Amino acid sequence: MKTVTLSTLQAYKRAGETFSCLTAYDATFARVANEAGIEVLLVGDSLGMVLQGHPSTLPVTLDDIVYHTRCVARTKGASLLMVDLPFMSNTTMERLLDDAGALMRAGAELVKVEGEAWMADGIRELTRRGVPVCAHLGLTPQTVYQLGGYKVQGREAERAEQILNDARTLVEAGASVILLECVPASLGRAISQAVSVPVIGIGAGADVDGQILVMHDILGITHGRVPRFVKNFMAEADDIQGAFKAFHEEVKTRRFPAEEHTF
Ligand code: KIV
Repeated sequence: MKTVTLSTLQAYKRAGETFSCLTAYDATFARVANEAGIEVLLVGDSLGMVLQGHPSTLPVTLDDIVYHTRCVARTKGASLLMVDLPFMSNTTMERLLDDAGALMRAGAELVKVEGEAWMADGIRELTRRGVPVCAHLGLTPQTVYQLGGYKVQGREAERAEQILNDARTLVEAGASVILLECVPASLGRAISQAVSVPVIGIGAGADVDGQILVMHDILGITHGRVPRFVKNFMAEADDIQGAFKAFHEEVKTRRFPAEEHTF
């Protein structure tokens, strides 16, 4: 694989070619994911749930994320490394910039922030300083208690319009990528068409520019209720390498997500 950069993702979007993204939290799985061809690796704060056993992502600290980013950065190869800013990294502008700086020093190449239009100032300041940003919209797990659970967002016209406007605002502020979680496929398509930057979806339908899943979910070891957008790629694979490759190939050929995985 040639080194994946933001320009690569932009070129995919222009060419109508999709790309695969997967969470990774350690050196071994990062290496396997890279060898499977996965273009973007995410050190997600989902590590709080899948590695640490918490019921949400909120307890994850900056130090936790920095530690896992360093592990993944050593073996990620040519894949692009996206990293989550943890809960409450946005309490002040100074903290936002310092925390993002720590992630970049640990090896991040793209920093993901949750937040709606109000994050525009933060995104503007980060991008001015050379920190590329992915803005995470729709179901934002760091606000799960405010949202009243892990629920599909944007089913109602008003909320859908708000998410679409937030995406436009954050791209104008400098976001290089949008990540959309758990929204109807029609909204995923509308946002992907409305913004010039690549849109990565998780439960956002087939008509976005890239697809991401949590590694544990594609290996069929999800704890508790399995979300509709998840597919167990281990079910038909001989080994973990095979499951990662099948995920990558089904994304690239647009066989995943199927209708049954979308809202
Ligand atoms: O933390 C994470 O793994 C994420 C994905 C759900 C996109 O943000």
